Amino acid sequence: MTTTEHDTTPPRHTHEIPSYLDPRHLGPYGIFLEQVERVTPYLGKLAYWVETLKRPKRILVVDVPIHLDDGTVAHFEGYRVQHNTSRGPAKGGIRYHQDVTLSEVMALSAWMTVKNAAVNLPYGGGKGGIRIDPRKYSTAELERLTRRYTTEIGLIIGPEKDIPAPDVNTNPQIMAWMMDTYSMNTGKTATGVVTGKPISLGGSLGRSDATGRGVFVTGAQAMQKLGVPLEGARVAVQGFGNVGNAAARIFHDHGAKIVCIQDVTGTIYSSAGINPHQAIEHLRSTGSILGMPDTDTLDRDAFWETECDVLIPAALENQITEANAGRIRAKVIVEGANGPTTPAADDILHERGVTVVPDVLANAGGVTVSYFEWVQDFSSFFWTEDEINARLDRIMTEAFGSLWDVAARHKVTLRTAAYIVACTRVLEARALRGLYP
Ligand SMILES: NC(=O)c1ccc[n+]([C@@H]2O[C@H](COP(=O)([O-])OP(=O)(O)OC[C@H]3O[C@@H](n4cnc5c(N)ncnc54)[C@H](O)[C@@H]3O)[C@@H](O)[C@H]2O)c1
Repeated sequence: MTTTEHDTTPPRHTHEIPSYLDPRHLGPYGIFLEQVERVTPYLGKLAYWVETLKRPKRILVVDVPIHLDDGTVAHFEGYRVQHNTSRGPAKGGIRYHQDVTLSEVMALSAWMTVKNAAVNLPYGGGKGGIRIDPRKYSTAELERLTRRYTTEIGLIIGPEKDIPAPDVNTNPQIMAWMMDTYSMNTGKTATGVVTGKPISLGGSLGRSDATGRGVFVTGAQAMQKLGVPLEGARVAVQGFGNVGNAAARIFHDHGAKIVCIQDVTGTIYSSAGINPHQAIEHLRSTGSILGMPDTDTLDRDAFWETECDVLIPAALENQITEANAGRIRAKVIVEGANGPTTPAADDILHERGVTVVPDVLANAGGVTVSYFEWVQDFSSFFWTEDEINARLDRIMTEAFGSLWDVAARHKVTLRTAAYIVACTRVLEARALRGLYP
């Protein structure tokens, strides 16, 4: 009997919840576990291996001590989680945020496993984070923090093992420090250890806008399927950072109207449309989106009731919940953020006929161009931006099309379809590789 022919009886001697999670407060990883439960009935015999998905392969928790500018020493919690490496090296971003927890990094790493498999990149899933509010620290302090953290997780990362990238509050400069620190520690320049680097250090053209571009490409595909015209479509965006502002600009440049923007500083609205290029300039010069000419300021919660065609959550997880899913007026939600919608909210949106393009597809543009960056670094041969965008658009369009067909065939949401396709790919690899030793 080969490993793919096992029966589907769940394994014995396995604890349901690992002891390092609190079963009463599972946090974001609880959402991922619920998503795995939902997909299991569609996995056939591969369900035999489903426990593999429920527990990360490797978790590294590190202490990150640094000298602050005032001469004192501060300690920060750092994590790197490799959720799954059945299909290739782990791949996923690094987040700097004061609310980072182990459960959150575990969930984000698991979503990377699903995302990379859903768009068929030859990667497993990983994620890292440091529990810090970077706005309160100087550039020199953040550099020391990044270098120490990179050294601590240097045990498990590497161009062929685990390749970090930017996420919330991290950027090309931080990737440059990570690349330099890893290179110093290993005695050779290793550009392929991180992606999302500056162009002059082996970064890829098109990477900075890639996630937003993928949000646009998959959103536009969904609109086409649903008969919602792009020209004049009203778009609301939560989060105006790397993902949100690129998505807003690209929708705007294709004739859509950005009617509402929310970020950490507040919420602005204009029925006539906000020019996102000007909003970025305003944010840069004033430090806030508030006060942008010809816009009204809305209450934070009113964002969810904005009359719009497309809603793009592009900030943090757990934003669309039972509390606001019933009030959302969009026809399509395109998840730029990771994990913005809870499973209960997903059900409400499904019943109300709102189409959700799930994170594991919608925001996969970033990791797709990260993959291109990694390939270019290995071959030291760089492609033009047009080549990159054309390849990105093709991968995202094809992935959308095949998930749309799977959803129609099984009469399930696009999220469940993405999980069916991705989890099947991951568990097929697991079954073929078998267990070592
Ligand atoms: N950067 C990437 O390539 C990438 C790729 C895939 C997914 N993502 C996901 O997209 C999301 C955003 O990432 P990013 O890289 O754009 O981060 P970023 O740090 O560049 O921007 C985050 C944005 O969210 C806003 N924000 C933070 N807290 C908020 C709140 N409580 N309410 C409203 N807005 C708030 C911030 O003001 C900022 O505009 C995250 O979920 C991330 O995991 C990012």
